[in-house]
Amino acid sequence: MTQPPNDPQRMVTPKAREEDQIAEKSLRPKRLEEYIGQEKVVANLKIAIAAAKQRGDPLDHTLFYGPPGLGKTTISVILANEMGVNIKITSGPAIERAGDLAAILTNLKKDDLLFIDEVHRLNRAVEEVLYPALEDFALDIIVGKGPSARNLRLKLPRFTVVGATTRLALLTSPLRDRFGSVHRLEFYTHEAMTDIVQRSAAILKSPIDDDAAVELARRARGTPRVVNRLLKRVRDFALVMADNHINLEVARAALASLEIDDLGLDENDRRVLRMIIDTFDGGPVGLSTLAAATAEEIDAIEDVYEPYLLQLGFIQRTPRGRIATRRAYEHLKVPYNDRTSPSPQPDLQQTLWTE
Ligand code: ADE
Repeated sequence: MTQPPNDPQRMVTPKAREEDQIAEKSLRPKRLEEYIGQEKVVANLKIAIAAAKQRGDPLDHTLFYGPPGLGKTTISVILANEMGVNIKITSGPAIERAGDLAAILTNLKKDDLLFIDEVHRLNRAVEEVLYPALEDFALDIIVGKGPSARNLRLKLPRFTVVGATTRLALLTSPLRDRFGSVHRLEFYTHEAMTDIVQRSAAILKSPIDDDAAVELARRARGTPRVVNRLLKRVRDFALVMADNHINLEVARAALASLEIDDLGLDENDRRVLRMIIDTFDGGPVGLSTLAAATAEEIDAIEDVYEPYLLQLGFIQRTPRGRIATRRAYEHLKVPYNDRTSPSPQPDLQQTLWTE
């Protein structure tokens, strides 16, 4: 049966689900040397860590951005481990009032790392408190009311803020400018994903054939969170079908039962593509119209569906809306209707017909 939109059970959603949190913890690499992929980011972080240690300073405030599920939290925990400091984890929406942030900041110890997930969702009042904290390690508080109100500046210990966002463009520029280093996480290559599957399978004590690992890696949209989730489902199939050994047949059977196609798209991705193609004649269709038509949140379309469809070259973003490309039609086996090429002129048609 087709799953309803926004179904938290959706297998390939890169958004974290509750079960992931327990499972991911055991699979997450704890140190940089265990970390697979994102070579450019890792190389830069190694330098930053070594330099900070040599100087005896905390790391510069650091921002990670990119689609969900690529390991922004994981890499932040690794940073804390590599620096040998404590990490406090919170998120933009969890810090509702300026006072909440003040409480968090005043509880930080020297060199601690404060991880703020979805940092683009901090509200204005909270951001205002964060600016002097990031820049001067200071907390400005107003004491009293009316004409007798005074500004009091509290000195904070030096610490590092690591921010993570799926939407860099939604960050205000004063906030963005206060992060000394900014890193973009990319979808993982098939090779990196294969290594991640093999590492995770070893931790879970599930023997897996190389070709089965490649198959899972190929169909997990370049996202470790997705591949680890698929692996867990495939293990169930292996237990029942093949004496707990994950071979290609088992991997394919599990993927087929989950309706995950050759490129890792599930029924929901295909539904979004089909909507553009069938209902909107291939597009362009505006984001909010597409969200309403598919009964998805605008954020879900932008954060969850689009990044991978864009990466595959299945959709294009244009000023007038989203367009399904020829590749998307081919993948869905729908005849391509190329409305960009001019139709023959009437007299030319005449000539063609009379010939
Ligand atoms: N598990 C999830 N992400 C990983 C990564 N980048 N490297 C190793 N194992 C992982």
